[in-house]
Formats: sequence, structure tokens, C-alpha cells
Amino acid sequence: MIEVHSLTKRYGDKGAIENVTFDAKRGEILGFLGPNGAGKSTTMRILAGFMPASSGTARVAGFDVYDQSLEARRNVGYLPENVPLYPEMTVRDYLGFMAEIKGVGRSERRASVNRSMEQARVTDRADWIIGKLSKGYRQRVGLAQALVSNPPVLILDEPTVGLDPRQIIETRNLIKGLGGDHTVILSTHILPEVSATCNRVVIISRGRVVAEDTPENLTRRLSGSERVEVDVAGEADGLATRLRSTNGVIDVAVADHGTAEIGRFLVDCVSGRDVRAEIASVVVLGGWSLVGLRGIGKSLEDVFLELTTTEDASDSDATEVAA
Ligand SMILES: Nc1ncnc2c1ncn2[C@@H]1O[C@H](COP(=O)(O)OP(=O)(O)O)[C@@H](O)[C@H]1O
Ligand SMILES: [Mg+2]
Repeated sequence: MIEVHSLTKRYGDKGAIENVTFDAKRGEILGFLGPNGAGKSTTMRILAGFMPASSGTARVAGFDVYDQSLEARRNVGYLPENVPLYPEMTVRDYLGFMAEIKGVGRSERRASVNRSMEQARVTDRADWIIGKLSKGYRQRVGLAQALVSNPPVLILDEPTVGLDPRQIIETRNLIKGLGGDHTVILSTHILPEVSATCNRVVIISRGRVVAEDTPENLTRRLSGSERVEVDVAGEADGLATRLRSTNGVIDVAVADHGTAEIGRFLVDCVSGRDVRAEIASVVVLGGWSLVGLRGIGKSLEDVFLELTTTEDASDSDATEVAA
């Protein structure tokens, strides 16, 4: 339903996303998780057909977002980061107008508007002028707008930003209910959001996809272990077994180093403890020839730390980001 392949976007000579690849199957709710400035909105704007990529391809509902832009956009409901609402229109008129733009037939428009207002829980403000609405209501009118043509694919950019805690829970439940019938991709910079809502998560950091998994597995992987890469020259029989029995080691996997002379072992260690010195002595004292040892997987842990910071602390516009 959503297929993204090697998507790259540069603003001037500054890279925003690089080689982003992922997909979402029909009915899936995919979380797009990353700190501010990671490239979430950039990716979503491209997916929604609002901006071309520098390179790479994206398809939604089977249509290329660039070559078949019109068909792709017809199949997508998009809640942008900053919803462009018309402040002088009423909610009902605005949604009717959006339904018309999206190609909803005249005879179905009224029912579509009513349904989308119910779904986004803005029915009680149907005849209000948008400019008079609170931020929470405006955000939900944005959601109603994305839903008004009942599109198979929904692209929701930080749908709960600006909502109060009760509205956040309501919106998450609404989105959960959309899965199955719709394919949803939603972005967020807070980890609990994806655990509460999504079947699968793509983590993006500094413009690159750094992990993809179920929320459960990610939480386990992120909080459970650190990985050390060990390279040994020549004969390495018995080393994996020996490493496995080392204190602090959870598991050992054999990897390909690329050269036949060197054996590579990926050692998963308990987190919060540096086991590298111990691993080095186990290898050397055991008579194996240690030629390399380094901790890897740290970047994921760093992302995790950024993602678990509170919403307040990370709400400012990011300036660090994509090199
Ligand atoms: N219109 C733009 N012009 C120049 N740089 C931009 C523009 N929009 C975003 N960027 C930069 O691209 C990177 C990714 O931004 P964005 O996609 O908005 O990230 P996110 O939505 O994850 O916070 C950031 O470094 C941001 O400063
Ligand atoms: Mg954004």
C-alpha cells in the first residue's frame, strides 16, 4: 500500500533524508518515529505528493507519487504538520469544500462530511468559524479533512501534537480503529505513541532509517542489550562457545567479515555495563588472535534516549540534525 524506495531529499546542498526505504502493508498502522529534524515531515510531504524527492521512488495505493501524482493524491488523506485551515470558514463548509476537491460526488458529500466530523469528534463545532476554535479542535478538523474522502491511505504527521492528554488518548483510539480498513502511517517523536497505536515502527534519525520492527521487539532491543563486534584472525574454533559463557554476554552470532582470514563475532551484552575489556582478555588469554573489537549499535541507543525525553523538552524546533 505504501512503498518507499531509496528516497533522498536535499534542500539546497543540505541533506534532509537519505536512502529512506520502507513499506506498509494493507491495513497496517506504521509508526514513523524519530527526533525533531529527523526527516519525518519531509518523507511524508513527498508521500502525500506535496513535494518531489531529489531521488528514489514512492508509491501509495499502487500509484507513483510523482508520475501518477493525481491518482496517488486521490487515494491519500494527509494531515500535514501545520494544517492549512481557512479561518473564516465554518468547519462544515471547509470539510465540504475539501470533499469536493478530493473528488467526493455531490450526492455523497454531506454524508462524508458528517462521517468525518463524527470520526474526528468535531461534530459539536460543525457550525463554528475555524478561526474561533481551540488548537485541539483545529488539529481534529485537520484529521477530519484527511478522512473526508475515506481514502485507503492516511498520512498523519504528528497527529496528537497540541492536544491535551484526554484528546491524545481519544485520537490514538480513533487511529487504532482506522487500521484494517485503512493503511496508516503516522509520525511521532515520542516512543509511547507508537507503542500505543502501531503494529510496526520505522525509526528514522538524521535522515536515515536506523531500525524497523514491532514496538515490542524494538523496546526490548533498545533497552536490553549492547553489541560488540569482535574480529579474530586465523583459527577461531570454540570461541563462540567461550564468549557465550562470559559474564555479561547474552548471545553470540557469527558474521561475515568479508575476508576469509578473519572471523567476525557479534556479541550481545547486557546494557549499562562495558564488557569489552573482559571480552578482550577472554579472547587473548584463550590463545585466539584478536585483531579488532568495537562497540556497535550505539546510535540506536542514542536515538532511543532522544525519543524518551519528554515532549516539552523536545518540542523546540530542532537545529542539530541531518549532516
Ligand atoms: N523547507 C526546508 N528548507 C530547508 N531545510 C528544511 C526544510 N524543511 C526541513 N528542512 C530540514 O530538513 C531536515 C528534516 O526536517 P523534517 O523533515 O521537518 O524533520 P522532522 O519532521 O522529523 O522533524 C531538518 O534538518 C530540517 O531543518
Ligand atoms: Mg516534522
